[in-house]
Amino acid sequence: MAPGNDRVTAWVRGEVEAGGWVRAGAAAAQGLRDLHGAGAVADLSLGQPLEAPDAVRQAFQAAAARVRTRRFGYMPNLGYPELRERCAEDVGIPGVTAQSIAITVGAAGALSMALRAFVETGSEVVVLAPYFSEFRLYSEVCGHRLRAVPPSRDGSLDLEGVGAALTAATGAVILNTPCNPSGHVTTDAEMGELAALLDEHRRRVGRRVLLVVDEVYRHLIYPPHRRVEPFAHHPDTVLCRSFSKDLGIAGERIGYLALHPSLSGPETEAGLALCQRALGYVNAPATAQLALLELPAWECDLAPYRQRRDRVTAAARDAGLDAAECQGGLYLWVRSPWEDTLAFCSALAERRTVVVPGVAFGDPERFRICFSVEPPALEIAAGALAETAALLPPSR
Ligand SMILES: Cc1ncc(COP(=O)(O)O)c(C=O)c1O
Repeated sequence: MAPGNDRVTAWVRGEVEAGGWVRAGAAAAQGLRDLHGAGAVADLSLGQPLEAPDAVRQAFQAAAARVRTRRFGYMPNLGYPELRERCAEDVGIPGVTAQSIAITVGAAGALSMALRAFVETGSEVVVLAPYFSEFRLYSEVCGHRLRAVPPSRDGSLDLEGVGAALTAATGAVILNTPCNPSGHVTTDAEMGELAALLDEHRRRVGRRVLLVVDEVYRHLIYPPHRRVEPFAHHPDTVLCRSFSKDLGIAGERIGYLALHPSLSGPETEAGLALCQRALGYVNAPATAQLALLELPAWECDLAPYRQRRDRVTAAARDAGLDAAECQGGLYLWVRSPWEDTLAFCSALAERRTVVVPGVAFGDPERFRICFSVEPPALEIAAGALAETAALLPPSR
C-alpha cells in the first residue's frame, strides 16, 4: 500500500481505485493538451454543457447585485419560497405546489435527497445499464446497494430485466431520461409498462418502490422524440432536475426535486429540510437561486446541440461504426468495433480524441462521445474515428 493510503476509508479507497473513468478521461485530455496544445485535442470525455447564453450570464450579474434582507445569511433549507413556486409552475401538474419542491445542489443533490429521504438503509436501488456511474456513489453513501439491469441490445428499456431485478429488498428504481450515456428517451409505452410493473410488485410484495426520474437533460430532447410525464403514470415518483446542462451552469450547482402530490405534505417537507442539512448541503446556492428568478423563462436553444449531434453521428456512421440514435442529451453511444474497447479508446487517444469507455456505464462493449464541444474539436474526432475504425484490432 502506498504511504498515506490508509488515511481515507476503505470505501473511498475502493472507489478511487475502481474507476472514475470520466475524470480519468478528462485528466488524459489535459495531458494531451499540455503536449499538443488545446486546439489540437478533442476532449469528448466530461459532460460539459456549452457556454451559458448571454441572458443567463446577465441574470447572474443582476442576482449578484440584488439587495435584500439577509442576502448573505441563512435561508430556508428548501430554498426561496418564490423560487419553489416557480419550480412548481415549471412542473405544471395539478397538485404540485411549492410544498412539493426542494431547491437542490444540482440534480446530484436532488438524487441524494430523494434516496436519503424515502429509501430505507440496506435497500436495493435498481438502475438500468448503461447508467450514469455516480448513481452508485449516491446510493452507497445513503447505505443502499445498487443493482444494475444489464443493457438491452437496442437501447430500449429492458422491462423484463427490471421485473427480474425487483425483490423484497428493492427500495427505488432510478430512471434517467434522456439517458446518459445511451441518448434513449423513455417512451409513453415504456413508462406505462414500468409503472405497471412497480404497481404489480407493490401488490405482490407489499412494498412501494420509489421511482426516481433523473431529468437532467429534459430540455435537450430532439424531435420527434418527446418527454413523457412520469407523474401521470406512477404516484410514488420524484423528479430530479437541474439547470446544469440546458442553461450551461453546471458549476453553479442548482437544481430541484419535485414530489408527486401523493408524496407531498408537511411531514415530507420537514423530512426534506432535514435531509438537506443531514447531507451537509444546508441549502442550494443563494446567487444561483436569485439568478433563476431573474430569468423570465428557463429555455434552452436546442439548435447548437442538434448540429453537433448530427455532425458526430454522421462522422461515426461514415467511419462504419454502430452508433445509437441520440434522442436526447449530449452523448453519442457507440459500439466498439474491437472486442477490446479500452484498446480502441486508447487508439483514439493516440489520435488526440478522448472518449469514455462504456465500462464506466455498465456496458463494456461501447464507448461514449460527449459532443457538446466546439466544432473544430468534432472535426479532429471525425478524423480520429475514421482512421481508427479502419485499423485492424491489435493482435493479442
Ligand atoms: C444523468 C445525470 N444525472 C445527474 C447528473 C448530475 O447533474 P448536476 O450537475 O445537476 O448535479 C449528471 C451530470 O452529468 C448526469 O449526467
